[in-house]
Amino acid sequence: MTVERNTATTPIAASAAATEDAFKNDPTATLEGVKGKDVTKAAKALLKDSAKRGGGSIQMQDVVKIYPGANKRALDDFNLDIKPGEMVVLLGGSGCGKSTALRSLAGLEDIQGGRIMVGGQDVTGVPVNKREMAMVFQAYSLFPHMTALENVEFGLEVRGVSKEERRKVAMEQLELVGLADQAKKYTQQMSGGQQQRVALARALAIKPRVLLLDEPLSALDAKVRVQLRDQIRRIQLSTGTTTVFVTHDQEEALAVADRIGVMNKGKIEQIAAPQDLYQRPATEYVATFIGLTNRLPGASNGEEAVVFGQRLPLIAGSAKGDSVAVLVRPENLALSLPDQYDSKVGEHARVEVIHFLGSLVRVDTVITSSEFQRWNKGEQLKVTVQLPANELPAGLASGDDVIITPRPVAALAC
Ligand SMILES: Nc1ncnc2c1ncn2[C@@H]1O[C@H](COP(=O)(O)OP(=O)(O)OP(=O)(O)O)[C@@H](O)[C@H]1O
Ligand SMILES: [Mg+2]
Repeated sequence: MTVERNTATTPIAASAAATEDAFKNDPTATLEGVKGKDVTKAAKALLKDSAKRGGGSIQMQDVVKIYPGANKRALDDFNLDIKPGEMVVLLGGSGCGKSTALRSLAGLEDIQGGRIMVGGQDVTGVPVNKREMAMVFQAYSLFPHMTALENVEFGLEVRGVSKEERRKVAMEQLELVGLADQAKKYTQQMSGGQQQRVALARALAIKPRVLLLDEPLSALDAKVRVQLRDQIRRIQLSTGTTTVFVTHDQEEALAVADRIGVMNKGKIEQIAAPQDLYQRPATEYVATFIGLTNRLPGASNGEEAVVFGQRLPLIAGSAKGDSVAVLVRPENLALSLPDQYDSKVGEHARVEVIHFLGSLVRVDTVITSSEFQRWNKGEQLKVTVQLPANELPAGLASGDDVIITPRPVAALAC
């Protein structure tokens, strides 16, 4: 686990080597005396080396997981293909199989069908400790009687890495997560966010080919969560470690993923880049899982729909029929006052609640015409509109009459 000397001509590798030498000369050396920037570079160089070495692509092909005694499949012909260095987030409701997918990939669960490849090699029967993966869970699972440094060193010790080498690598990892100055602290004296950063440093220290994160942030408060999520993404990008991140927080998924796989009943229902998934959901489940959406009555020929008299282009795979539901995002609806409106399209609605969200405003309304109530199984048809705060008609209040018109943006009919 050393930096290769033949790469020491590049500035990054050179500073990595310099750091390495500093530790070699004095096994008890701390980062004092080593410039912070050099250490970060050294850590990156070490990890980049691992990305080069590992290849880190993942294929899970038709994987079936049935827990003992269970009558349904936790993974049901599950397929996932990840490129080296990519960060894929698995998103989905409770019990849809996210953790099972991750645990099967890590080798913590045996599978009843299919195969798992990492870096082009079949690892299906390979034991967990031979898969070169590291996992971080929701619970910090650190050793409370050990310092942060000892915790990070632990995985290296198990792998027989020499004391001086593991101290060096562990300090680099703590530097990478911004905790070099806390190295000597016992983990039980640290905050939740700090503990989870130690867990992350410990996972990265073994230079895994693949990093697996199972809801690593869900025990943390909102602010720390956002900070740490961004830090994880930065580290992941700089190290190029192939990463699978499980969450059921859609905002978290949208913020960090190269691609998001939305899971439902043991399968991936759609996998795509965050923006594609948001703008072109393949199914109603995906559309309702990511962001807010309105279900509006329409007529569709499969390529176009008419909703509230307005023609809309449809996403491929949309349903056809005289009475379909068209899924329209709140920001794809326009809201106008009746006396300032001269178009033939649009539908009258009554304002229920106006939510101010800073630069945006969300307006909950109810469609006035009872025609749509019949379509909506007797329930009032509620429609949410979102618009920039400065476009909200002045003085608009609950109870006011407005006209709602879909914008001609591609939508899904189902
Ligand atoms: N050890 C187990 N034994 C039996 N059934 C299990 C076991 N672990 C999970 N399951 C079942 O397998 C299915 C998938 O569970 P899994 O833990 O993968 O879901 P998840 O998507 O991670 O959910 P959550 O968001 O709640 O963590 C669920 O129906 C669950 O009850
Ligand atoms: Mg889970």
